[in-house]
Amino acid sequence: MLKKVPVAALAIGVAALVGLAASRPGDAQTPAAQQRYLPEWTANGDLVLPKGFHRWVFVGSPLTPNALNGGKANFPEFHNVYIEPGSYEIYKQTGEFPEGTIFFKELQLTLPAENPDGSRTEPSGRGFFGGPFNGADVTVKDTKRFADTGGWGYFNFHHYEPKAATAKALPKSECAYCHMASAKKDEVWTQFYPLLDNPKLD
Ligand code: HEC
Repeated sequence: MLKKVPVAALAIGVAALVGLAASRPGDAQTPAAQQRYLPEWTANGDLVLPKGFHRWVFVGSPLTPNALNGGKANFPEFHNVYIEPGSYEIYKQTGEFPEGTIFFKELQLTLPAENPDGSRTEPSGRGFFGGPFNGADVTVKDTKRFADTGGWGYFNFHHYEPKAATAKALPKSECAYCHMASAKKDEVWTQFYPLLDNPKLD
């Protein structure tokens, strides 16, 4: 004889089935399709500190320590570089950085030196190890707004913490000239970022 199944149990069963259907294999791989974070501007055209950049795609961390730069490097920190993920997806498909692409270069101090070459020893070996964050440089692609600097705007959000809430576009003589002269791809130093130098990598 059939027993009555309580309604609550039925509801749980249905919910479990729906849950199963929603997590078909393959879904996890679907990229967060073109959900982009686009630059935000103040009324007078300054760039608002991009939101959520620590969760963006990390492409590299060049390091120019003091000890290798006459004791005083301009940027002795790790240069941790991130690209906004929606722009990265488009770049992978087209090979071009779309309008609105943001690069976020966060500076991260190395932990204090124990040796004359600036290095220290940790359980993994002798070398340089990340310490506190220390400000950021940002670039934004907008070919209309920044036609004078090759289509990219350049911003500094302090070379210390906390980062500035907003920043003004800097003149060509301060930033863009160098990127325009020697960066490999559209003012971006893709030669140091294998992930961008080879968009087929995943
Ligand atoms: C003298 C050359 C030079 C100048 C001037 C310069 N940069 Fe760069 N920039 C580089 C190099 C080289 C890299 C990559 C290697 C590194 O970070 O050491 C880089 C990387 C960056 C990145 C990471 C994305 C990318 O394009 O690779 C940003 C963002 C950035 N610079 C912003 C700025 C801003 C803002 C200024 C002005 C305040 C500036 N840069 C001035 C040479 C320069």
